[in-house]
Amino acid sequence: MSADGSFRAFRLCRDDANAPPVGRFVQMKVSELSPGEVLIRVAHTSINYKDALAAAGLNQIVRDYPRIGGIDLSGTVAHSGDPRFVPGDAVVVHGFGIGVEHDGGHAQMARVKGDWVMKLPQGLGLREAAILGAAGYTAALSVHWMEHNGLAPGGLPVAVTGATGGVASVAIDILAQRGYEVHAVSGKAEAKDYLMALGAARVLPPSVAEPTGKPLDKGLWSGAVDSVGGGMLAWLLRSAAPDAVITSFGNAGGMELDTTVLPFILRGVKLIGINANSPMPLRERVWQRLATDLRPRHLERIAQPVAFEELPEAMARMRQRGTLGRMVVDFS
Ligand SMILES: NC(=O)c1ccc[n+]([C@@H]2O[C@H](COP(=O)([O-])OP(=O)(O)OC[C@H]3O[C@@H](n4cnc5c(N)ncnc54)[C@H](OP(=O)(O)O)[C@@H]3O)[C@@H](O)[C@H]2O)c1
Repeated sequence: MSADGSFRAFRLCRDDANAPPVGRFVQMKVSELSPGEVLIRVAHTSINYKDALAAAGLNQIVRDYPRIGGIDLSGTVAHSGDPRFVPGDAVVVHGFGIGVEHDGGHAQMARVKGDWVMKLPQGLGLREAAILGAAGYTAALSVHWMEHNGLAPGGLPVAVTGATGGVASVAIDILAQRGYEVHAVSGKAEAKDYLMALGAARVLPPSVAEPTGKPLDKGLWSGAVDSVGGGMLAWLLRSAAPDAVITSFGNAGGMELDTTVLPFILRGVKLIGINANSPMPLRERVWQRLATDLRPRHLERIAQPVAFEELPEAMARMRQRGTLGRMVVDFS
């Protein structure tokens, strides 16, 4: 923060209602932020796919402008009108509309509701929390519900699609750490070494998902974590083994889903929807696991540092499928 109490923010503005928003680096005052009881000095934020879409005005993610994007942040409490927090508390915030309906993490300061703020679990630092962010939480929530629904190591492989993405990278790391044989499906052949270093046993091209015209293919997977949707998810369903558990949270490859009921009624396949905007008790439980038994082993390999000034270019690269892992901005 500057001596006059102002700070830097990357703000999405809409100058023309018929044109995409324009992102501007601005100097702001705390009083200009969305209201909330807790003021946070942001240490790190990141870029999630949703941020990249929002910055280009896609999918009507942001409806009210100006808006500071960034759906996750980690930082320390600077001031709190909520008795649950005191200055200096290390916290993480994601979801609850931050970066969408409420100013988010792409700024040196954030002001949010106390109900949205989570203290970092013991053993997890601010930087680690940001590398994980909304994406890492989504990966952990996937594994949490998959195992709750019967997935266990030692069976057939688990497929992870959109494998070089933020959620998928963390999912590969967590699954491999827990003893699963992970098959990564990626459109980036050049990223094979990266994916194997995270723990993937095999890297497959997206062409494996091409339609076969059959409602069921040979059952290959005990589970799958899907970032892509569309034809990729249809293929995972067709090629899932009996009792496989699949999580769906992403639409990087499309919104539609062309499938049949046969995987469900003949093979007992479970398709689980994941919405990372969980209520606080579940959030605390899963973050606690991220700090302990679900802790990924290769967070620094997954982290891709991005300078604050590079946000617009980095988000454009993400929209063009030109990124890998988790892009993390360091304000500290
Ligand atoms: N439901 C929720 O609460 C929730 C939470 C977090 C994320 N998400 C969603 O999950 C998805 C992944 O998020 P992320 O932050 O990990 O994004 P990301 O880092 O951009 O990763 C997405 C990955 O999907 C693949 N991909 C990109 N465009 C594609 C296309 N047109 N067709 C097929 N594959 C494509 C790419 O992997 P390869 O090049 O390796 O194939 C890319 O790295 C997004 O759709 C995001 O909105 C949802």
